[in-house]
Amino acid sequence: MSRVRVHNFSVSIDGFATGEGQSLDAPFGHAGTRLHEWFFPTRTFQQMLGKPDGSHGVDDAIAGTWEAGIGAEIMGRNKFGPQRGPWENDDWNGWWGPNPPFHTPVFVLTHHPRPSVEMEGGTTFHFIDATPQEALRQAREAAGDLDVRIGGGPTTVREFLAEDLVDHLHIAVVPIVLGRGERLWDGLEGLESRFQVESVTTPGGITHMTFTRP
Ligand SMILES: NC(=O)c1ccc[n+]([C@@H]2O[C@H](COP(=O)([O-])OP(=O)(O)OC[C@H]3O[C@@H](n4cnc5c(N)ncnc54)[C@H](OP(=O)(O)O)[C@@H]3O)[C@@H](O)[C@H]2O)c1
Repeated sequence: MSRVRVHNFSVSIDGFATGEGQSLDAPFGHAGTRLHEWFFPTRTFQQMLGKPDGSHGVDDAIAGTWEAGIGAEIMGRNKFGPQRGPWENDDWNGWWGPNPPFHTPVFVLTHHPRPSVEMEGGTTFHFIDATPQEALRQAREAAGDLDVRIGGGPTTVREFLAEDLVDHLHIAVVPIVLGRGERLWDGLEGLESRFQVESVTTPGGITHMTFTRP
C-alpha cells in the first residue's frame, strides 16, 4: 500500500512549527522566516520558485526527497491561508500563485468546505471536512499507487501522528527558540517507540530527524 510521508517539516528546538499571530503578511506569525532559513538556499526550494539553481549540499539532498513518488497532499486550512471561520468568498487560492508547487491533488482539511479549484500545473485544491482516516482514503484514491504527503501545519501533522497514520516523518530541527506558537509534539508522548529514528546534523546546524515505520 502507498505510504504516508511528511517532509521538510521545520520545528524549533522548543517544538514549535509555526509562530503566533499568522496573517497575510506573516504566514508563520512571529516566527517570520526563521524556521525555513535553512531551506531557502537549497536547489529544491529555488526550483519551486522556478529558479535554475541553488545549494547542492546535504540539506538539499535531504530536502529534495519531498516530491518523488507523491500522488496527493493533505494539508490543514491554516497552511492554505490565514483566514479563519466561514470563507468570505472563494477568491483566496493559497499563498503560492497560479502554479503551486504541488502538481497533484491537494486535500485541504476544513470545517468550511467550498468548491474545488483547479490551478495551473496539475494542482487541484479540494476542501473537505473529514476525519484523518477519511481524508487519507480520498487522497489515496486520488494518488493511485503513489504516496500521500501530509503537508502540515503542525495541527494536521499531529492529528495524523495521533491516529498512527504516518509511515515516514522528516523533521528539520532548527536551532532557534520560538517560545510561542503551535507545537508539534503535544499529546504524542512515546511516539518514538513506533518508529525507527535516525538523525544527522548538517554543517548549517540543522538536525534532520527521520521517523520511519519499521
Ligand atoms: N514548520 C513547517 O515546516 C510548516 C509546514 C507547513 C505549514 N506550516 C505553518 O503552520 C501553520 C498552520 O498550522 P496550524 O497548526 O495552525 O494549522 P493547520 O494544521 O494548517 O490547519 C488546522 C486547521 O485545519 C482544519 N482542520 C484540521 N483537521 C481537520 C479535520 N479533521 N476536519 C476538518 N477540518 C480540519 C481546521 O480549520 P477550520 O476549522 O478553520 O476549518 C483547523 O483549525 C501556518 O503558519 C503554516 O505556515 C509550517
